Amino acid sequence: MGAANTDKYKSDGTAAGGLLEWVDARFPLLSLWNDHLAKYYAPKNFNFWYYFGSLAMLVLGLQIITGIFLTMHYKPDASLNASGIPAAFASVEYIMRDVPWGWLIRYMHSTGASLFFVIIYLHMFRGMLYGSYRKPRELIWIFGMLIYLCLMAEAFLGYLLPWGQLSYWGAQVIVNMFTAIPVIGPDFALMLRGDYVVSDATLNRFFALHVIAIPLALIGLVAAHIMALHEVGSNNPDGIEIKKKKGPDGIPLDGIPFHPYYSVKDLVGVVVFLMVFAVIIFFMPEAGGFFLEYNNFFPADPLVTPPHIAPLWYFSPYYSILRANTVNFFWIDAKLWGVIFMGLGTVIFAFLPWLDRSPVKSIRYRGPLFKGALVIFVACFLILGVLGTLPATPGLTVIAQVCSILYFAFFLLMPIYTSLDKCKAEPERVTGK
Ligand code: HEM
Repeated sequence: MGAANTDKYKSDGTAAGGLLEWVDARFPLLSLWNDHLAKYYAPKNFNFWYYFGSLAMLVLGLQIITGIFLTMHYKPDASLNASGIPAAFASVEYIMRDVPWGWLIRYMHSTGASLFFVIIYLHMFRGMLYGSYRKPRELIWIFGMLIYLCLMAEAFLGYLLPWGQLSYWGAQVIVNMFTAIPVIGPDFALMLRGDYVVSDATLNRFFALHVIAIPLALIGLVAAHIMALHEVGSNNPDGIEIKKKKGPDGIPLDGIPFHPYYSVKDLVGVVVFLMVFAVIIFFMPEAGGFFLEYNNFFPADPLVTPPHIAPLWYFSPYYSILRANTVNFFWIDAKLWGVIFMGLGTVIFAFLPWLDRSPVKSIRYRGPLFKGALVIFVACFLILGVLGTLPATPGLTVIAQVCSILYFAFFLLMPIYTSLDKCKAEPERVTGK
């Protein structure tokens, strides 16, 4: 972003033009438009991986809108109705069967939740491919990490609301996990639940956090994320700074205005995304139990524990790391190690800007050590993800342990292998590939 634009809109004589001029004299409409769209110069070589930021914004919007409509009919109430069904569960069934288009709104919200994580994982992976977290974009990355943590909290809280068997028992397992933290753990878990077991009080506070507190935080963080991005400018698949080569007009030689070039290009991503979204919603809304789990079509029953409690797919790599801790070590028991490593496994991404010592940013110019490490890391993340959905057996636990060690090694050894790596020279200008 250049210096704040001081242009003012001049009416073209039409009624709409007059209105725009009136508003622009009282509100920085044109300068916001110019600074963030029409005169925001983005590198001209964005590729496939650059679709996911705008898609994430789209899905955030869809989740908020569908969420508002769900809230009009949903009841956060665990008490049993005249048929002996918890009111919260019954209200979701009512949305699905009786509310006009309720099924569509609910499936859009449940499918949107899973696709949000697909998009965010691809968006984060792009950052790792092209070193987008490196100087001067550390704060964009940190805001991104805070968004990621909020998204996880949002998904976890929302999953309790239908008050199905897995909603109930999943929350029970996760909240109980916090009791392993010494001294404050049991009180913290009690505060989260608002009771000694997951109950109506838990459902009410999870509802409040899910519909207002976390979405507000998310919107604020996304605004900060974009402001930080527009302050320093976008990275690109070559990982070089386009602002270093400017023309006589002060515009980066390799930059093109975001609007109309990328606003139109992003529309292509939106159309493809909406097609995939529609296919899932109309033909496979449960996605084989991955987006909506079968056991959650049974109302919560505190007296019947389901035989296999697994989190939704987007948490499963971390759940695997939790379960891979089977040994009491020093004076800390395995359960607490599990919680510690699961927490570390999530936040460790935030340290990437300071762990990466490579002289180049993009994977295109990195050496074999980083490329190999990234392939192993992605493989381990995926394997841990699959293992997290399966019941633990001694054999699978060993695989999870090996993958967890490699997962952390990717981060902890990064200062060493990125310093030793044989990188190629970066080009002066973007290559346009
Ligand atoms: C609601 C969630 C999010 C939204 C709406 C969002 C939105 C965006 C948008 C619109 C862009 C610019 C377009 C693009 O580069 O694709 C962007 C860039 C970026 N985002 Fe996000 N983002 C989100 C989450 C995250 C997360 C979780 C991370 C990482 C932890 C992250 C890291 C980045 C980085 C590093 C860039 C700059 C990329 C570059 O210039 O190469 N974002 N984000």
